Amino acid sequence: TKGFMEKLTNLRKQAVFGDAKRIERQHSRNRLTARERIELLVDPGTFVEYDQLVTHRCVNFGMEKSHHPGDGLVSGHGYVNGRVVFLYSFDFTVGGGTLSETVAEKICKVQDKAMDAGAPIIGINDSGGARIQEGVVSLGGYADIFHRNVQASGVIPQFSLIMGPCAGGAVYSPALTDFIFMVKKSSYMFVTGPDVVKQVTNEDIDMEGLGGAKIHSSKSGVSHFAMENDIDALLFLRKFLEFIPSNNREKAPSKPTADPHDRLVPSLDRFVPDDPNKPYDMKNVVKMISDDEYFLEVQPDWAKNIIIGFGRLGGETVGYIANQPAFLAGVLDRLSSIKAARFIRFCDAFNIPIITFEDVPGYLPGVHEEHNGIITHGAKILYAYSEATVPKITVITRKSYGGAYCVMNSKHLRGDYNYAWPTGEIAVMGAKGACEIIFRGGDVQSEIKKYEDKFANPLGAAQRGFIDEIITPRDTRKRLIADLKVLKNKQQEKPWKKHGNIPL
Ligand code: COA
Repeated sequence: TKGFMEKLTNLRKQAVFGDAKRIERQHSRNRLTARERIELLVDPGTFVEYDQLVTHRCVNFGMEKSHHPGDGLVSGHGYVNGRVVFLYSFDFTVGGGTLSETVAEKICKVQDKAMDAGAPIIGINDSGGARIQEGVVSLGGYADIFHRNVQASGVIPQFSLIMGPCAGGAVYSPALTDFIFMVKKSSYMFVTGPDVVKQVTNEDIDMEGLGGAKIHSSKSGVSHFAMENDIDALLFLRKFLEFIPSNNREKAPSKPTADPHDRLVPSLDRFVPDDPNKPYDMKNVVKMISDDEYFLEVQPDWAKNIIIGFGRLGGETVGYIANQPAFLAGVLDRLSSIKAARFIRFCDAFNIPIITFEDVPGYLPGVHEEHNGIITHGAKILYAYSEATVPKITVITRKSYGGAYCVMNSKHLRGDYNYAWPTGEIAVMGAKGACEIIFRGGDVQSEIKKYEDKFANPLGAAQRGFIDEIITPRDTRKRLIADLKVLKNKQQEKPWKKHGNIPL
């Protein structure tokens, strides 16, 4: 056995220490190695590795001569802030981190374990894609992973960190996960690379321009965050995880706060400008009412007319959705609807109460929006709000016009508590536009004042009970926390169905 133990020790060393030249190359590109990434992500000393000795089984093109224990992936479990997570990290220094049959098997194993344990799964991507020498076996491996991603969706939270190449079939596992974190200038995602794009459409573009972190977090919306470097991304994910429950049967962990639950926020009383066309930054409202004024914004650079993210109220995680009057007047369009809808569904799947701040002039008019399907896409946010059964509270700070009134978690979609500030305006449309239609040819100007008196306030809605109460802005935090306490054990049955058919 002495010989065997020596052999084992050698294999382990090989697995853990890797190839110095390749590690050097990885570092020279501002990238950490697979193992360094894991060490930063998990609590010190908690990583337990699986399948460290697994090797590939390929005998094509001389592959039988090159084996590395563990192959191109490190997988296992560890703890983040004391809670277990399952993870895998592609090792670019072994065969370019490509997906062999055995790498796929390792990923599937850890995905299955995460599901059994009811704990989050985190994939760290840095890979040349399908291992070409293995052909269809590698492609089958991707599909096995995808199927598990889909089964896990809504059961355990799934996270993808993109820290190098992620191209071709490799992009669809991250795409199926709940949140994608990319690293600026060292990661990219695309279905086909710049060379193929050039051949097919004759467009000239480099990797960063086609699928870098900046593009995907501001233009395509594929990524939720663009981080400065590997370290920032990993530490940020640790913080992010504090807001999220481990599975769909749990509540998110509470975090006690010294911030008084009944704290008043007097500056909100005069926060909304008198002029209805003057913008203000809704992010400040969200921050000011949250525990310790902390707001973790998700997708901050994409579809900025709607704000989404996490915070805490009275120690409990909440998901915020808020129209942003400071960007495109907070109008609803295709992208903002898509952005909010997916977030609402995440919150609903994982028992996170939804708080909505509303100041929206309506859906965005225009040929471009109509021809690109605002009807279908705009329905997404409506569908998501309506199907959500977690506690749902809405605060109308100013405009609530037209279809957007219905959509933004109105009472009619089973909002639990719907409030307006005294500055709320709930109407089919703004005064000028409305009067130009109903008083066409008449004295439009003189009618505007009458219309404003009637509709530029939340009274009509409150008299119907569509608004539960007109609240003083300074009371908002106190009120929301009290309501969440009331709704703590909210339960709502839904009709039996296999699944709904959200307009996609
Ligand atoms: N299959 C098998 N081996 C691959 C591979 C693949 N898909 N992609 C990369 N590798 C290998 C390389 O042959 C190289 O091996 P070696 O170190 O033993 O010589 C190693 O991985 C590192 O690749 P390299 O090209 O040196 O790294 P790079 O950083 O310069 O480039 C890529 C990285 C990903 C851009 C480049 O390797 C590439 O274009 N790969 C093919 C991507 C692809 O089309 N995949 C299929 C899509 S599903």
